[in-house]
Amino acid sequence: MSRKVILSGIQPTNTPHLGNYLGAIKNWVHMQEEYDCILFVADLHAITIRQEAAKLRAQTKETYALLMAMGIDVQKSILFVQSHNPKHSELAWVLSCFTQFGELSRMTQFKDKSAKSEENMNAGLFTYPVLQAADILIYNADLVPVGADQKQHLELSRNVAVRFNNAYSPTFTVPEPYIPKSVGKIMSLTEPTKKMSKSDENPNACISVLDSRDVIIKKFKRAVTDSGSEIIYREGDDSKAGINNLISIYCAVTGKDLPTLESEFAGKGYGDFKVAVGEAVADLFEPIQTEYARLISDKTYLDSCMKTSAEKAMRISAKTLSKVYRKVGFYPL
Ligand code: TYM
Repeated sequence: MSRKVILSGIQPTNTPHLGNYLGAIKNWVHMQEEYDCILFVADLHAITIRQEAAKLRAQTKETYALLMAMGIDVQKSILFVQSHNPKHSELAWVLSCFTQFGELSRMTQFKDKSAKSEENMNAGLFTYPVLQAADILIYNADLVPVGADQKQHLELSRNVAVRFNNAYSPTFTVPEPYIPKSVGKIMSLTEPTKKMSKSDENPNACISVLDSRDVIIKKFKRAVTDSGSEIIYREGDDSKAGINNLISIYCAVTGKDLPTLESEFAGKGYGDFKVAVGEAVADLFEPIQTEYARLISDKTYLDSCMKTSAEKAMRISAKTLSKVYRKVGFYPL
């Protein structure tokens, strides 16, 4: 039996952060052993927010190298840059004709982002989830490992797939989201009821994978918590959002479970715990940073990996696209 297909992507809008790593990338790395993984740097999605061209180019290469440094193995997985495969955009047009205006209007990410960029409320921001559906459906992905913030986009992809399949005949695999339970949403360190985000204006809110050890520990020391002192996880208690987030991070990074953590820190205060979380995260990122420094200086190697992977991606997606063109009735040449 052929292996299941995993697909996921990340935008090169800034250096990946701890939330990207724990919510998504860490799973991609593990899943490579069991599944056929197709992963990409979503540069087409990135331009829904105005980007500086030179910076976008540099960050695309940086994100690609970081994914490799984190453990994505181009011998096992397909790791490419989205704009290197034009088939996504071609399928997105067809799928946009199978997506309702009302559905897109309900996307919370659209509402959030358009509220933040009133001066640039472009159509791409609105149709973004259609392109995301094309990314997924063009490879007939079975599973999509993402953080909890992408759940609504995944539901839309499923609806579009079902709608197209019903209109013609089974064409697309209906994808399942794969969202890690405890770390599906890593929160901001300064406003723990908001998700950790690359675009946060407060640099202390977010831990970048390339932050130095000192910076990481400093940011955790400053993390917003409450006036309590016990290191105990209290599910669903918003007043404990800060400490709950730090506990989730510590457990995810060290692999320890809650009872082990709670007994390890019994009698200790938030101050000690914050330093321990910072050290654990710095230890996690150190080898990634060393490998990244080696890879980023080797443009020839990175370019050749991008090219081989884009070609593989294109071969798979061309098949799906020609099937779709045939079904909708486009006249073949
Ligand atoms: P992006 O670039 O915002 O984030 C990449 C991945 O990281 C996850 N993530 C988080 N997980 C936990 N806690 C957080 N604070 C956190 N912030 C981000 C995201 O859920 C995501 O899995 N639209 C996507 C990129 C994309 C995509 C796709 C994903 C484009 N096409 C097709 C899957 C399938 C995005 O903007 O991710």
